[in-house]
Amino acid sequence: MPNTISNRFEGKVALIAGGAHAIETSLMGFAGLAALEIARGGGKIMIGDIDDIAGKQSVKNMREAGLTADYYHLDVTSESDWISVVEKTSSLHGHLDIMIMAAGINNRGETIETVSVPKWRQVMDVTNLGMFLGVRSVAPKMRENGGGSIVLISSMMAKITHNQANAYATSRAGMTHFARSAAVQYGPDNIRVNCVLPGWAVTPFTAEMFDDEWMKQHEKRVPLGRIADASDIAGAILFLASDEAKYVTGSELLADGGVTAWLGPVD
Ligand SMILES: NC(=O)c1ccc[n+]([C@@H]2O[C@H](COP(=O)([O-])OP(=O)(O)OC[C@H]3O[C@@H](n4cnc5c(N)ncnc54)[C@H](O)[C@@H]3O)[C@@H](O)[C@H]2O)c1
Repeated sequence: MPNTISNRFEGKVALIAGGAHAIETSLMGFAGLAALEIARGGGKIMIGDIDDIAGKQSVKNMREAGLTADYYHLDVTSESDWISVVEKTSSLHGHLDIMIMAAGINNRGETIETVSVPKWRQVMDVTNLGMFLGVRSVAPKMRENGGGSIVLISSMMAKITHNQANAYATSRAGMTHFARSAAVQYGPDNIRVNCVLPGWAVTPFTAEMFDDEWMKQHEKRVPLGRIADASDIAGAILFLASDEAKYVTGSELLADGGVTAWLGPVD
């Protein structure tokens, strides 16, 4: 019998890195909302993040709603943190089927000449070292159980850039190529590795940057005519995480409202 939405993730265990912003406030992150939907779909979730206050509050709210959720402090740049969170998840639930890696920081407003070397390294570390450590920590556990799905949250900035935030854009492009490489390596283990490339979306990550004036200007640049919210992106993440995407690996799913398809408002 095909899965219905209500049992879409029945029996699945998911680790969501960078998913602290689930239902602790009205403004959700992509991965936080995806975590919530996996739990609502019958899955068991472990959220890992450095924002312990938001993560613990999200998990508390989910448990009060009758969902199976835990939180563990995870700095994605720390290999020992990854090993601990995978061990904790396994000891609670016995297996691990899904990993979503959404941790990210920006270097908006900085050019190649103004970004400091420590800042450049930090952006690269959270995204690229983080995904590498995450994949190699979860893959052995997924292999033991016959496979799994890994979803890396990149950005449309992997495809197009502007004159600032070079570290961010470069790290996001690295993510898509790493996903292809990991998909090839782990295909024989039935572990799928894919990327979602979100466009502009209002989340805790961007809420301060995207003021009214910014929204008005940028909406004009989106073929679908609006800036996304977390639900617009979570749908793409959930598709790749689920068995509906069981033959999809090494792919990039753009969820950008068409921005990267368009040269822009020129004749
Ligand atoms: N919102 C957008 O417009 C947009 C667009 C494209 C891509 N993205 C990417 O999507 C991902 C999710 O962002 P979001 O917009 O849902 O916001 P979000 O703030 O909910 O998610 C980012 C999370 O990363 C966590 N984090 C930062 N450094 C970390 C570290 N070292 N270890 C563990 N966690 C860490 C933060 O605490 C936060 O919870 C990010 O990687 C972001 O770069 C966002």
